[in-house]
Amino acid sequence: MFRIFTANHIIMAQFASKLGLIAATVGSAVGLGNVWRFPAEAQANGGGAFLIVYLFCVLLLGIPAMLGEFAIGRNGATDAVGAYKKIAPGKAWWIVGMMGIVASFLILCFYTVVTGWTLEYLVNSLTGSLYSNVGAATDADASFSWTMHEYIASDWQPLIYTFITLVITAGVLMMGVEKGIERVSNIMMPALFILLLIFCVASLTLPGAGKGVEFFLWPDFSKITPMVVINALGQAFFSLSLGMGVLYTYAGYFPKQTKLAQTATTVSLLDLMVSVMMGLIIFPAVASFGMMGSELEGTTLVFITLPEIFQQMPATRLWSVLFFLLLFFAALTSVISIAEVSVRLFQDRMKMSRFKAVLTVMIPLLILSCVCSLSQGSLSDITFFGMNIFSLFDTFASNILLPAGSLLMCIYIGWFAPRKLMPDQLTNYGTLRCLVVKPVMFLIKWVAPIAIFIILISPLIK
Ligand code: PHE
Repeated sequence: MFRIFTANHIIMAQFASKLGLIAATVGSAVGLGNVWRFPAEAQANGGGAFLIVYLFCVLLLGIPAMLGEFAIGRNGATDAVGAYKKIAPGKAWWIVGMMGIVASFLILCFYTVVTGWTLEYLVNSLTGSLYSNVGAATDADASFSWTMHEYIASDWQPLIYTFITLVITAGVLMMGVEKGIERVSNIMMPALFILLLIFCVASLTLPGAGKGVEFFLWPDFSKITPMVVINALGQAFFSLSLGMGVLYTYAGYFPKQTKLAQTATTVSLLDLMVSVMMGLIIFPAVASFGMMGSELEGTTLVFITLPEIFQQMPATRLWSVLFFLLLFFAALTSVISIAEVSVRLFQDRMKMSRFKAVLTVMIPLLILSCVCSLSQGSLSDITFFGMNIFSLFDTFASNILLPAGSLLMCIYIGWFAPRKLMPDQLTNYGTLRCLVVKPVMFLIKWVAPIAIFIILISPLIK
């Protein structure tokens, strides 16, 4: 049975278990941000030094901001716009929720495309075709670049895989919160952690792995610059799924006894752990294969450097399949969470059935995802401000809407929200002791807005 009760059109779906709730929220947080962005950011910003700054960003700003979204979300028990309308009726704060929804939709358009690429690589690793043409080439690097270009820049293949990703996402969403999102997360998240562990052991035992570990963990404090701090904070917000409406929406499915502080800490630390594990997989592997100097930018890392490494290892195809499976699980659970933001909006604002709401989201998404996919190929000549459509969506959503939405959320909670909101939500209306209410409020009121404002204007000072 779906755990959905409707009373006066209010949809009361909930996560059924504490573990499922954590799995779903971690599923949203853990994604391409951890696998794709984190190693590249760590490499570009000084390795160990970045890790330390990142840790502080997660603990001091990420967790309080997550708590702010949880509080508004659970109080509202509805979509991101409705949650603000409920707590601040008659005011314009709902626009903050709307910004999150727009950001999440734009992110979704290209995130599904990249998820499609991982699926394409997974299938081609399974069939072996990813590696079959490389044997003939003398220069493996050139060969994998060529393969990537073939897979990503061709028109049809990526479109087909993007379409499959959308169909899977729609299927899960139609099954509902408990039977769909929670159940899929309960399977994919433990599998992802097991795969990560296997890769960590394999990578750390490679000859010469120590150099990579040293780069990643040894902090050289002289490398910490204002830019490193800004990049770490941007990465933390993206990775924790902040500012995009996801956490308001998921918190709307938290039962009233869920301990918000404990949940935010667990989710953030698990997300951090995945990023650290990714570092412990990537850096030892690239060091061991003498590729420390190569650029670890997301696409190159995942679709060129790693296949090259797998090719030099015994059981190439097995490693390749396991890795792309890991990446696909990580990406898919994030896609599901981002799409849920809009589904919930249509369900609650337009009073649609879940089935209709999913279709209403999927149709424009399909069109825009296809445009994003083609912007890597046939439509690559269409550019705005020097960016193709894919990068335009990414930049506008991740660099502008995301920090702006988080900034306004902190300003709202810190300065305008009813004073009882945070204490009530953190203590479950006085039934729990929560020692962190005051420090969290201080961080949300003073520290987070200033820090996020600096991220927002950082492109102007870069
Ligand atoms: N946090 C996800 C990641 O690290 C990305 C994401 C963005 C998820 C927006 C939800 C909303 O990849």
